[in-house]
Amino acid sequence: MTIRIDVLTIFPEYFTVPLQNSLLGKAIKEEIMKVKVHNIRDFASDKHKTVDDTPYGGGPGMVMKCEPIFDAVESLKEDNSLEHIVLLTPGGKLFTQDKAKEMAQWKDLVLICGRYEGVDERIVENLVTEELSIGDYVLSGGELPALVIIEAISRMLPGVIGQWESVTNDSLYNGLLSYPQYTKPAEFRGMKVPEILLSGNHEQIKKWRDEQSILRTKKKRPDLLGKYQEKKKSDSEKVE
Ligand code: ADE
Repeated sequence: MTIRIDVLTIFPEYFTVPLQNSLLGKAIKEEIMKVKVHNIRDFASDKHKTVDDTPYGGGPGMVMKCEPIFDAVESLKEDNSLEHIVLLTPGGKLFTQDKAKEMAQWKDLVLICGRYEGVDERIVENLVTEELSIGDYVLSGGELPALVIIEAISRMLPGVIGQWESVTNDSLYNGLLSYPQYTKPAEFRGMKVPEILLSGNHEQIKKWRDEQSILRTKKKRPDLLGKYQEKKKSDSEKVE
């Protein structure tokens, strides 16, 4: 089944090149994923095509208006169930690999790219079903976050990555960082590839890689290791 993603933005050009290239381009060409980008400005009703206005109560910047965004979302109802209407905002819940896996199961979704100082709160309260952030930093808008999310979802769809093993080996797929990788030559400027990888003993190699994965996570992202161990414990309690 093809997942459908409708993106609402005032900068549709942001999406042109990323959606045509590499694995994302392939996923779309092969109709594993359908991504439609819509210009919010096309839904502005005045002759100046206004999509933002000054905030009530004063203060700096501009706020994205209700009307074009409500109208844009409603225009999708023939093609999108509108079950998942996601706003990209630095104030949203943190987007993670688990969230990408969850979203890859959805039939369709709408991504609304916020801009300026924010969107009218009535959009958040009455239209949006969830708010997502890609990290604790502020970008100028939700366009790059939307692309990040689309690409992360695409990698979770069967058929996008040639070998499924390369997905399950990815850092973070199982909550850990991946093991270190090496390629030819076996020695470069005196730096050697770990002997075990040249041994041909697949069982020992797997064991070494599993250990390395844990060690690396402990060293570089101890926060992830804690979460991984908690999850493993609660999974094993569920089985018992
Ligand atoms: N818009 C601006 N910054 C953002 C972020 N970090 N995540 C999602 N949307 C954003």
